[in-house]
Amino acid sequence: MTTDSYPPIENRYVSLLWAEADAAPEIAALHGELFDPSWDVDAVRRLLVDPCCSALVAKVRLREIGPPVPAGFAIGRIAADESEILSIGVSAPFQRRGIGRRLVEGLTRAVEASGANRVFLEVAADNRSACGLYGGLGFAEVGRRPGYYKRRVGAAVDALTLLRDSKRVP
Ligand SMILES: CC(C)(COP(=O)(O)OP(=O)(O)OC[C@H]1O[C@@H](n2cnc3c(N)ncnc32)[C@H](O)[C@@H]1OP(=O)(O)O)[C@@H](O)C(=O)NCCC(=O)NCCS
Repeated sequence: MTTDSYPPIENRYVSLLWAEADAAPEIAALHGELFDPSWDVDAVRRLLVDPCCSALVAKVRLREIGPPVPAGFAIGRIAADESEILSIGVSAPFQRRGIGRRLVEGLTRAVEASGANRVFLEVAADNRSACGLYGGLGFAEVGRRPGYYKRRVGAAVDALTLLRDSKRVP
């Protein structure tokens, strides 16, 4: 399925919901679509029940009637006054429709409200979509691990550590 498979999504059809442990299967399914290696249901559940973790699921209602479908997720962890976005993904048919931005903004706002002024994350240097997303939200490179991501095909790719410091970003 391509990103053109669905029409543009109006904001009123997209909900961001706090994910509890029962959301583990749908988050693991999304993770499996997007990442290799992926997290299984138990691994996701362990994060969701961790009191230091917060997670959001984006759900999209495709019709006026009928259940909304899971379209994306974001999971973060707070440690003292810092936090980390552990994983974020938007299912391919729903990408490039503003859902990723809403997930990062939602999670960032929540952790910052808890006192975590500094939000870190790690991204592969060749992940154009993610780098564009984070750059637009005030994240800046503060570290680099050369050749961290080994690829099945082609050369290894650097991991970038990005930081959003709410004391510096309006
Ligand atoms: C990265 C990801 C979460 C972005 O989600 P999304 O819902 O498609 O992103 P949005 O529609 O909110 O886009 C926000 C911004 O990100 C950037 N962006 C998103 N997709 C892009 C693409 N394909 N190419 C270039 N920039 C892109 C743009 O700056 C975009 O702003 P704009 O639409 O105003 O130009 C999504 O592509 C994804 O799940 N990728 C696979 C998993 C992944 O790589 N996760 C991140 C690991 S660190």
